[in-house]
Amino acid sequence: SSEKMEIVQLYVVLISVRHICAVTWLYLAKQPSLRGTLRDSSACEGLKGLAEEQVRICQRQVEAMDSVKHGAELAIEECQHQFHNRRWNCSTLQGLQVFGKVAIQGTRESAFIHAISSAGVAFAVTRACSRGELEKCGCDRKIHGVSPEGFQWSGCSDNLSYGIAFSQAFVDNPERSRGVSSSRALMNLHNNEAGRKAILSHMKVECKCHGVSGSCEVRTCWKVMPPFHKVGNVLKEKFEGATEVHPKRVGSRKLLVPKSSRFKPYTAHDLVYLVASPDFCDRDPHSGVFGTSGRQCNRTSHGMDGCELLCCGRGFHTAQAEVVERCSCKFHWCCSVKCKQCRHLVEVHTCR
Ligand SMILES: *[C@@H]1O[C@H](CO)[C@@H](O)[C@H](O)[C@H]1NC(C)=O
Ligand SMILES: *[C@@H]1O[C@H](CO)[C@@H](O)[C@H](O)[C@H]1NC(C)=O
Ligand SMILES: *[C@@H]1O[C@H](CO)[C@@H](O)[C@H](O)[C@H]1NC(C)=O
Repeated sequence: SSEKMEIVQLYVVLISVRHICAVTWLYLAKQPSLRGTLRDSSACEGLKGLAEEQVRICQRQVEAMDSVKHGAELAIEECQHQFHNRRWNCSTLQGLQVFGKVAIQGTRESAFIHAISSAGVAFAVTRACSRGELEKCGCDRKIHGVSPEGFQWSGCSDNLSYGIAFSQAFVDNPERSRGVSSSRALMNLHNNEAGRKAILSHMKVECKCHGVSGSCEVRTCWKVMPPFHKVGNVLKEKFEGATEVHPKRVGSRKLLVPKSSRFKPYTAHDLVYLVASPDFCDRDPHSGVFGTSGRQCNRTSHGMDGCELLCCGRGFHTAQAEVVERCSCKFHWCCSVKCKQCRHLVEVHTCR
């Protein structure tokens, strides 16, 4: 019976080792708010989906964990927004593997997931810093003086260095512990960094005017991060133009080089992938692929959301649906707008 116990224990160890990989920390997004429950570092062990070193980071910086959770939520939401009319629509699954195998197969989709997630954490932590919610960081008040354009730097600039360093420590950790001899780890590390770069290279300047009744005698300015939607747009473009790579030994190092010499070299801002994506047409619950049957498609579009491509040539059903809209709106003095409700029928197409 003690033998049996050992087998059971071994099994438990195997399962927990196998399940904690690259992006299982995204499962934080599915857990209840950490604000109330995560009062001290002893609660970190109870968080599901974290690798060992991530638990240690949690213990050292408990106050930052709510931002990590928020970063995961931002990333998932933005991914679903960017992919809502593609065959793979970034839906999440029930278990610890938030995106199923899609996230770990070395595909373009996996590249996007890694980039947007590491950007999400850098973004959320930086924002918490600027809002004064974290003890170890704040906003950047050191950008001083007058810019070449003649405005005065002042106020609270977003200081990305803490958020980026945090994201590197937390998000990159599972890859680093796999060792950089793994091509998949190299790919993920590259894409994690590209995600953070998408914030860094799109910082904006915001300004406020001071002076007599709106005159702009003095303009004070500070730096802010782009809205997260902007980061999503940038990374979606990088997704479209991602470079297929393969590992190559150069001296004692392993590098990822473009698979074909005809491909242009990629930069630190680009996404790379190792494996061509499946077509995502058919339901494959085992891999976390929902298939496109039942998805709404656009009959006139020739894009990815068009019935032809989205339904993978299987054809589609057409049904009538009633839409209720506000119409014939009239402005009444003063100050209200009254509208009628109009009903009309539209055709809705769904993939077979
Ligand atoms: C993605 O598509 C599936 C059907 O294939 C649907 O059940 C799911 O709700 C969609 N997810 C999102 C996030 O739109
Ligand atoms: C930005 O944050 C980093 C890391 O926390 C810190 O070392 C640096 O002093 C901060 N910079 C400014 C200008 O506040
Ligand atoms: C369908 O696609 C056409 C062409 O791309 C576009 O003009 C139209 O707005 C789309 N309709 C819907 C409901 O998205």
